[in-house]
Amino acid sequence: AYNLHGRSFLKELDFTPKEWRFLLDLSRDLKRAKYAGAERPRLTGRNIALIFEKTSTRTRCSFEVAAHDQGAHVTYLDPSGSQMGHKESAKDTARVLGRMFDGIEYRGAKQKIVEELAEYSGVPVWNGLTDEWHPTQMLADQLTMIEHGNGRPLSDLSYAYLGDARNNMAHSYIVAGALSGMDVRIAAPKALWPEQDVAVKPARELNARTGGSLLVTEDVQEAVKGADFVLTDVWVSMGEPKEVWDERVRLLKPYQVNAGVMRATGNPGVRFMHCLPAYHNRETTVGEEVYEKTGLDALEVTEEVFESAASIVFDEAENRMHTIKAVMVATLG
Ligand code: CP
Ligand code: NVA
Repeated sequence: AYNLHGRSFLKELDFTPKEWRFLLDLSRDLKRAKYAGAERPRLTGRNIALIFEKTSTRTRCSFEVAAHDQGAHVTYLDPSGSQMGHKESAKDTARVLGRMFDGIEYRGAKQKIVEELAEYSGVPVWNGLTDEWHPTQMLADQLTMIEHGNGRPLSDLSYAYLGDARNNMAHSYIVAGALSGMDVRIAAPKALWPEQDVAVKPARELNARTGGSLLVTEDVQEAVKGADFVLTDVWVSMGEPKEVWDERVRLLKPYQVNAGVMRATGNPGVRFMHCLPAYHNRETTVGEEVYEKTGLDALEVTEEVFESAASIVFDEAENRMHTIKAVMVATLG
């Protein structure tokens, strides 16, 4: 129906609402096929490069497992494992890898790099996270919302994102929600509101066509009222200097997802989501200093909410694999 063959997957805005929907439907079908033991490999013999200039658990494993399920081979280039950016430009790297690989995943800081890889490699390039966008995560999140939406279409569902709204996740939630005509609320302190030109303006334009809506507010209560899903992300993203922690904690403490926030939705069926990794307890080393300094036991979400029955974060994590598989099959299969 929708031919995405040969296309790259760089950001949500490159896709029409119908193409986006097609990827979600394909994800659902591939997930069902795998569960039924009826998966048909459509990437047999393909070679895929996975470039990670930032670390990853879910995204890397999703690309690897999805590729293997579909009969493809992967080569993993770790954050120090290639010349790109240090000794060789993205443009040259793209032209080399394009001669050897049928598809390339890239995770790193700059959106510009993933765009250059796509422009010069001549093969489909998939964005595994940049500072600006995290588009594969959005397919996973929306598939998870469909699965937990009690049969309601995405256009009838709402979500509230609390926390750092100037990061990749917030920008992606704003635009991806608009693509699917969803009711999107963002609660953050003004200093961390989303970039107007990057996400808010394009989303408002999309919403005029898809029937979606966008609320950006400082008021947590207003944002979560009636929400079907409450979402958050880390307060400091990969690549940001350690020095920003103090200010982030100060600004974002009122935006922590806790039991009170979940109650304030007024929705007994509300679900909690998080792209992960999450700082919900002290069992991580990165958070240690922050915990010691602030005396907090959890940062963006409390242990209570994270471990509650409302939390669907591991369904969400699993869906990274099914949706990334769909992106590869659609563009390369
Ligand atoms: N959510 C996500 O992208 O996780 P990783 O950083 O582990 O890939
Ligand atoms: N905003 C986070 C998302 C991690 C999946 C980061 O960029 O580190």
